[in-house]
Amino acid sequence: MAEIGIDINKAKSILEAGSLVAIPTETVYGLAGNAFDQKAVASIFEVKKRPSFDPLIVHTHSLDSVKELVKKIPTKALLLAERFWPGPLTILLPKKQVIPDLVTSGLDTVAIRIPQQSLTLELLKSLDFPLVAPSANPFGYVSPTSAQHVNKQLGEHIEYILDGGNCTVGLESTIVGFDDEAKATIYRLGGTSKEKIESIIGTVQVNDHSTSNPKAPGMLASHYSPGKKVILGSFEELEKIEKSSSTASITFSKPLKGIGISHTVVLAADGKLTTAAQNLFSALRELDKPSVKTILAERAPDHGLGLAINDRLKRAAAE
Ligand code: TXA
Ligand code: MG
Repeated sequence: MAEIGIDINKAKSILEAGSLVAIPTETVYGLAGNAFDQKAVASIFEVKKRPSFDPLIVHTHSLDSVKELVKKIPTKALLLAERFWPGPLTILLPKKQVIPDLVTSGLDTVAIRIPQQSLTLELLKSLDFPLVAPSANPFGYVSPTSAQHVNKQLGEHIEYILDGGNCTVGLESTIVGFDDEAKATIYRLGGTSKEKIESIIGTVQVNDHSTSNPKAPGMLASHYSPGKKVILGSFEELEKIEKSSSTASITFSKPLKGIGISHTVVLAADGKLTTAAQNLFSALRELDKPSVKTILAERAPDHGLGLAINDRLKRAAAE
């Protein structure tokens, strides 16, 4: 198992030596390594059992440092960066040579993000290289939102987990790209809502399906698999389904009748989408136990973070 702690200097020296550290971000925990070190990058793919066609996000600490990594920043991208960084937004930008091809799986764009979590931001400022960090879970599984989630699945492969407590957003960052100066596309719905993005740059298109979306190759239909049959529906639809002792439920604000308490998760007793987002991934993990065969999951309201929550539930439900 990995050591868990809050020692930024320890994390720094492990990363400088070319090894990996799990880091907290406001979205989910990441498995981090030196973005300029091919060996470190390769070991991330190995530990996650991630296919090499699925590129990584590069994390850094300031707009100035971003400019060292990319050839240019379109006007609208700059507007988004100024408004939402540090925060749960990733922007696809034309990469400079300093970024190894392994990081971008050969694409000529690199995904960049400045995270907000304070320990990680401080760590990034102390390093003289950026960090690549995919979510710190085995490929295809639910992303981790606590140090304990990381330790349980990847602990034996990592020396150190920097502990930032529970992630405050709980969903991965939103990924936005620009075909040209004018046209913005969301390739992954996430912690920064479509509405917030549109309030800054106007209408954006959403293109988040892997099959038609070679630009975000990691967005496979069956991602976020909790290893169970997941049935997605409205509260009323789920009420009509026959339950057994192996049925579990994840609902938005009130519990479903006919399901035992140990199989029942209500995501947001306060009715807030931000609370539901915070709790979603730990709920999927909690119900990934032998006594559960089927998870009935209530569709969230179709706006704001609800869109990203429903995206993850749909992927969890995909066979
Ligand atoms: O919130 C997050 O973004 C977290 C935290 C740790 O920062 N990271 C994360 O990384 O979710 P990962 O590797 O689990 O997901 C990154 C996604 C993948 O679907 C990948 O295909 C896509 O970003 N991606 C990375 N680089 C890309 C690029 N150049 N073009 C298109 N998609 C890219
Ligand atoms: Mg991931």
